[in-house]
Amino acid sequence: MPENDSKNKPGHSRRDFLRGSSLAAASAVLTAPVVAPPESAEAQQAQADPKILAGNVSISLNVNGENRAVEVEPRCTLLDTLRNRLDVTGPKRVCDRGSCGACTVLVDGDPIYSCTTLAVGCQGHKIETLESFDEAGVPSSFVKHDGLMCGYCTPGFVTACQALLKTNPNPTLDDVKKGLDGNICRCGTYIGVFQAALDAAKALRKEA
Ligand code: FES
Ligand code: FES
Repeated sequence: MPENDSKNKPGHSRRDFLRGSSLAAASAVLTAPVVAPPESAEAQQAQADPKILAGNVSISLNVNGENRAVEVEPRCTLLDTLRNRLDVTGPKRVCDRGSCGACTVLVDGDPIYSCTTLAVGCQGHKIETLESFDEAGVPSSFVKHDGLMCGYCTPGFVTACQALLKTNPNPTLDDVKKGLDGNICRCGTYIGVFQAALDAAKALRKEA
């Protein structure tokens, strides 16, 4: 699973993780609930008799606190399911290959690239998109500090920032850079983005 250093482990980030892993491996954690661990009896059984999903499958996803029933093909990504089937259009498709972060959503609080995550693997998990965030928090800080130009990257940055501040309410500039390094801004608004993250952290600390 591409993580935005959500566990806040020093020395490890989404970008670091992707450097050393294939995209298929990157989605392994989220698909874990439907794929048995390799060493288990279930995994051996699954290897001997693999379950093949075909056609449309009915799934239920918990999106922004609401259980949403939807039919998808097993190959359907979480991003496609959110945008095209559930009309949740905050996460954006830009690279569609797990390298830009525009499609970032939170799954159980962890930022992931929804363009490389299968929707079927997200059942039973809590999915949050920026539509559910308090506008007066991180989003308004991005506006205040001009943390966007074309805006394509902004939903991903806001989402990654939200996750970062949850795990680290008092980040340094280096923490912010590391926490957001799974996201790319082609317009180069990094100074505004970093300032927005630091300012949002300060405002949230005052509220607490
Ligand atoms: S659209 Fe998913 S990482 Fe770029
Ligand atoms: S504001 Fe244009 S890509 Fe970031």
